[in-house]
Amino acid sequence: MANITFSSPKMKKDLTVYATAGDTSTLLALAKEHKIPVDFECENGECGSCAVKVSILANKQPMGMHLTEKEKTVLNLAGKITKDQIQDAEVNDIPPPWRLACQFIVRNEDVLVSL
Ligand code: FES
Repeated sequence: MANITFSSPKMKKDLTVYATAGDTSTLLALAKEHKIPVDFECENGECGSCAVKVSILANKQPMGMHLTEKEKTVLNLAGKITKDQIQDAEVNDIPPPWRLACQFIVRNEDVLVSL
């Protein structure tokens, strides 16, 4: 379904994992399953510790666009996303660079996740 590549200075090399069709788990769940060192605390979109940079690699309309209300609030308070970027995501389908791994649902698209 989708190749999800995790990249981090904490890892010896980038790791690409395959998310299977019908999988609707979060990026954080996928990272935990593959023992990728994503920071997290609450797992509920409240603490902001799981913020990661997500780049869509597919050359088509991004699918994993939807930001939860918690994600918008926490990322905005952390200074990782502006109100304009939130509006761009909602109105123009332009994905913001920072996401919360515990809120981002993996879709059928290849992405690069930078920790
Ligand atoms: S783990 Fe707290 S916001 Fe994701």
